[in-house]
Amino acid sequence: MESLEDILRNATKAIQSAPDLKTLDNIRVQYLGKKGQLTDYLKTLGQLSPEERPLAGQKINTVKESLQALIEERTHQFKYALIAEQLAAEAIDVSLPGRSQEVGSIHPITKTFQNLQQIFTQMGFIVLDGPEIEDDYHNFAALNFPELHPARAMQDTFYFANGMLLRTHMSTVQIRAMIQMPPPLRMVAMGRVYRNEFDITHTPMFHQMECLMIDEHVSFADLKGLLQEFLYAFFSKDIAIRFRPSYFPFTEPSAEVDIACVSCNGKGCRICKKSGWLEVLGCGMVHPNVLKMAGIDSERFQGLAFGAGVDRLALLKYGISDLRSLFENDLRFLKQF
Ligand code: DAH
Repeated sequence: MESLEDILRNATKAIQSAPDLKTLDNIRVQYLGKKGQLTDYLKTLGQLSPEERPLAGQKINTVKESLQALIEERTHQFKYALIAEQLAAEAIDVSLPGRSQEVGSIHPITKTFQNLQQIFTQMGFIVLDGPEIEDDYHNFAALNFPELHPARAMQDTFYFANGMLLRTHMSTVQIRAMIQMPPPLRMVAMGRVYRNEFDITHTPMFHQMECLMIDEHVSFADLKGLLQEFLYAFFSKDIAIRFRPSYFPFTEPSAEVDIACVSCNGKGCRICKKSGWLEVLGCGMVHPNVLKMAGIDSERFQGLAFGAGVDRLALLKYGISDLRSLFENDLRFLKQF
């Protein structure tokens, strides 16, 4: 058997040069385990005389304790080293430049909606909405489009197999409002409408605003005054307007409204195709048939209404030249609003 001194020396050397926790544990087993060298030593105590035993036992225990202490210290060292390594790996370099957050912006159409809502609510109108998927009744029949009437072909409608359709205009909300709310009524509605047309100046989905006012003694002069106020508020300047007689089944009389070109002030430019005028909306006095169909006394009440293309209004207000840029979602474009 090795002498106790040798054991102490060899074990100490082994412990101090152990490269990792696993090796250290093997060393512990080798010396202090059940079949370890030091344990073997303890077993030999029985062979000694009773006088020799206490001293020998003490010696063995001293060696055992110092080895245990050494192992414990080494274990601590390994654990600290591990934590230090982890901390180093997870360290954050606070001097690196941060990742910046991009600030979003409101889409020009949404901005225009908000602007229109503000203008009309200030004039006492309420804001309503209706479904984008409509039935023939709200989109056509109740708006005085008789069945097979050619005016239905004015709008290239997207139909579903079950006879429902994508609303072709916001006038549908007029009907819903009149049926639900007794006059006097002042409402605006804005949203998406759909028609099967697609070229430089038309997209299959576009945006409209509808306005309806029903009361006693409402006249075409009120309509003109309202439009003038609205256009003044929207473009922040006095704008000449002109009415051209037109036809819509749901209004009588009907008109289309042009405004003096906001780009050249009526002199004639590329935007107004040299005419000096821009067509911005359709309007008229609500047809008595429409009032009657909604259960309103057409002898007592009159209505004025108009419908405007919001995309067009947004292009003019913000000086955007291409309608398509409203739908491409190019961030370089959208960030400007
Ligand atoms: N709904 C019509 C369209 O989309 C626009 C319109 C014209 C609405 C005259 C009206 C109106 O309320 O009175 O072409």
